[in-house]
Amino acid sequence: MTEPVRARYTAKAVGLADKPLAQSSLGCGDPVAVAELHAGETVLDLGSGAGLDVLVSARRVGPTGRAIGLDMTPEMLAVARRHAAEQGVANAEFLLGRIEDVPLSDESVDVVISNCVITLSADKSGVFAEIARVLRPGGRIGIADVLADFSLTDAERAAAEVECLDGSLTTDEYVAALAGVGLTDIQIRRTHDVADKLHAAVVRATKPIRPRGVAIAVMTAEHAAQVLAIYQAGLDGGNASFETAAPSWGHWDASHLPRHRFVALDSDGTVLGWIAASPVSGRCVYAGVLEHSVYVHPDHQARGIGAGLLDAYVSASEAAGVWTLQSGIFPENTASLALHRRAGFRVVGTRARIGQHHGTWRDVVLIERRSSRV
Ligand SMILES: C[S@@+](CC[C@H](N)C(=O)[O-])C[C@H]1O[C@@H](n2cnc3c(N)ncnc32)[C@H](O)[C@@H]1O
Repeated sequence: MTEPVRARYTAKAVGLADKPLAQSSLGCGDPVAVAELHAGETVLDLGSGAGLDVLVSARRVGPTGRAIGLDMTPEMLAVARRHAAEQGVANAEFLLGRIEDVPLSDESVDVVISNCVITLSADKSGVFAEIARVLRPGGRIGIADVLADFSLTDAERAAAEVECLDGSLTTDEYVAALAGVGLTDIQIRRTHDVADKLHAAVVRATKPIRPRGVAIAVMTAEHAAQVLAIYQAGLDGGNASFETAAPSWGHWDASHLPRHRFVALDSDGTVLGWIAASPVSGRCVYAGVLEHSVYVHPDHQARGIGAGLLDAYVSASEAAGVWTLQSGIFPENTASLALHRRAGFRVVGTRARIGQHHGTWRDVVLIERRSSRV
């Protein structure tokens, strides 16, 4: 099955079986499948054309997510908007603009997809810089594109010009361009030939979780006062825990594992956030199961600090042989649920009216992350 045909099957799988829509793809692959979308994510499609991949993405991310199509051609935007209306897809939006100058703010997108458009750009470095800018730390790309087998001769380039593919990058050039804007875990897989010395490929890469100007360090007693102050600020917000008052350092220290606690520090050593874990049970069988809390100072949220802390905690726990991480989150704390989802956690279920908080019965969503390495 060729990749464009598979894209139509993906459309059908999410209930977009309308024939003209399903056949409207001018892409060369199925970036939505490559991107492995999850509920609640924000997805950006560069060069969205008639909108098929945006509508499939919208279905995949569900009502709590967003799918945004960007295209420079008003006529294509009108077609895409009509398709969204016809299919009753409410969480899809279409923006006019160029993929070299994306009209979205920094770190506002979980996933960038694109289907056979980047190869058309005369300023690919500008496109890759924009992708790195709009992706959140930990975000990823799932792209289908046309690549050249190797640098084309002048004659071959002239022939490819007919299809606007004369500027296609080779695999090595593509990898270098993505690495040059700081993306990691780059994978490029050839899918099928599209012309002489030109082939379609799917591209994956990740924006690493390294908040700018923030260091992740092991928590020590010197951080105690700031850790407890951030904890109290979180409790005061009302959506962090059933607890209402931070305990003494001695009590907190004794109830958290020394090997599984980290702080995020700014350049002068101020604590911006922390993560720490406790065992879920004293029984041997649960020795590899931990429960954690993560808190970010209210003045430093939405900077990728929580994601950086979770990343360090997950890596250290796997190195220590821990196989399951779990936590309980109030359903109202949607930022924490999204943060954990991006770090590979899944919702186990909701424990309805499990406890009282300031005299009100509240639900708790139980989440877990099973290590694929341990
Ligand atoms: C080959 S079609 C692919 C459309 C869509 N991705 C699909 O799979 O059907 C190229 C689309 O990208 C848009 N496009 C091309 N270059 C662009 C650019 N530099 N900025 C924004 N959109 C662009 C065109 O308007 C067109 O709708």
